[in-house]
Amino acid sequence: MSGLIRFGVSLEKNLLEKFDYFIKQQHYATRSKAISDLIRESVIKQEWAEGNREVAGAVMLVYDHHKRKLVNTLLQIQHDYYQVIVSSQHIHLDHHCCLEVIVVKGNGNPITGLVKMLKTIKGIRHVTLSMTATAETEEPDEEAAGIHRHPEENAPGQ
Ligand code: NI
Repeated sequence: MSGLIRFGVSLEKNLLEKFDYFIKQQHYATRSKAISDLIRESVIKQEWAEGNREVAGAVMLVYDHHKRKLVNTLLQIQHDYYQVIVSSQHIHLDHHCCLEVIVVKGNGNPITGLVKMLKTIKGIRHVTLSMTATAETEEPDEEAAGIHRHPEENAPGQ
């Protein structure tokens, strides 16, 4: 992990009060932790969309297994994307409904493609995607991203 940098943030009083309430509700120990989580989430979403970094996540699906065509299509799509699928877990929710969790890891581009394909299957409900950065992408390479910092920019209270 690279060193911590302090920087100042100016916020409207009203917004800060709402944010402090959010922090309390989410049981964050500090504002810094809450802000860093929000920034990380935004950066990960962007990296995911651009598809130029390795990401990991889980796709959650709910469907009726009596729809044979749906089940066949679902299997076919997963085999098309086997290179980014780590594993899948199938849970029988009741007599009709199945919950499937597909764990994915790899380049964001094919993973986004997989999710798009899954959403096109008729009859599938609740295709949701949860994602995170892998260890290699936890600390973005700022030099590579063209970000050049001057020491005075990192001073607190600005
Ligand atoms: Ni089932």
